[in-house]
Amino acid sequence: MAMKLIFLAMLLCLLLASTPKAHASVFDVTSATYGAKPGSDVSTALAKAWSDACASPSASKVVVPSGTYKLKEANFRGPCKAPIEMQVQGTLQAPADAGQLTRRDTWVGFQYIDMLTLSGGGTFDGQGALSWNQNDCHENKNCKPIPVNLRFEFLTNSKVQDITSLNSKFFHMHVFRCNHTTFQQLTITAPDDSRNTDGIHIGASTGINITHAKIGTGDDCISIGDDSHEITVTDVTCGPGHGISIGSLGKYKDEKDVTGIIVKNCTLTNTDNGCENQNISRFSFA
Ligand SMILES: *[C@@H]1O[C@H](CO)[C@@H](O)[C@H](O)[C@H]1NC(C)=O
Ligand SMILES: *[C@@H]1O[C@H](CO)[C@@H](O)[C@H](O)[C@H]1NC(C)=O
Ligand SMILES: *[C@@H]1O[C@H](CO)[C@@H](O)[C@H](O)[C@H]1NC(C)=O
Ligand SMILES: *[C@@H]1O[C@H](CO)[C@@H](O)[C@H](O)[C@H]1NC(C)=O
Repeated sequence: MAMKLIFLAMLLCLLLASTPKAHASVFDVTSATYGAKPGSDVSTALAKAWSDACASPSASKVVVPSGTYKLKEANFRGPCKAPIEMQVQGTLQAPADAGQLTRRDTWVGFQYIDMLTLSGGGTFDGQGALSWNQNDCHENKNCKPIPVNLRFEFLTNSKVQDITSLNSKFFHMHVFRCNHTTFQQLTITAPDDSRNTDGIHIGASTGINITHAKIGTGDDCISIGDDSHEITVTDVTCGPGHGISIGSLGKYKDEKDVTGIIVKNCTLTNTDNGCENQNISRFSFA
């Protein structure tokens, strides 16, 4: 009887394991085709693996196995032919000197993709310490742009999960014009005294869920900018930092309203403000 149950359980596991997701074609950057090696720069290997995976007519998965790799730049652009996953198991390290990046405001970017999953348990290490000292944006309105660790633009039906963003030079994640996308199981860390290393900034996006994230950077954990709607934040641990904020709004002309923001069951420790609304007059609950 017991044996039969075990057999049934195993059969069930096999059936579950063989759902279509498990059949994604794998594009491993360390395979002979792409030739990436821990310790060296993976920019070219990763760009090639992405473009092959993105062109794949069925679901695909780009894999960065465990190990530490340098990454000078990365811009992952869609549209792709099928759902695509980027599984980062290792650590990707940005150049410490922001001047070495091609895109001055971004280290790693994802754009125009439907059904992207970014996952893998790995770390995006922005090596930001040099930039924090050079950053004068708190006193200079026309300061030079500083790269964010991860920029997500024009994504739909996507997931960013189970990754760590460490020591970004500027904001950790910048989410712009994304719809119906979930951020979960994230760790976002920088020292308390690092400058402008906000956790997740969302602008002009609809249907964004952030859940089970641990964010501590000394700045805003989550900030929500204009034209954002249906943003749900649950089970987020925030601090040290400024808390969760809406705004600043009203600085520019023709800004659109922020509506439908829900913040539930979040733990804020060592935060200046908890939940802050920097311009209550323009904030409406839908
Ligand atoms: C997101 O939704 C808005 C409003 O529904 C729409 O105008 C916009 O085109 C959508 N963006 C994308 C990237 O699909
Ligand atoms: C986000 O959460 C809300 C409320 O729990 C849910 O209705 C919605 O479907 C979720 N959206 C996504 C993109 O998962
Ligand atoms: C609230 O958050 C805590 C800590 O993250 C978690 O352990 C708990 O399950 C959550 N409660 C609910 C009702 O989701
Ligand atoms: C708030 O919004 C109002 C009207 O849009 C604007 O005049 C004011 O400067 C804003 N305040 C802040 C702190 O952004």
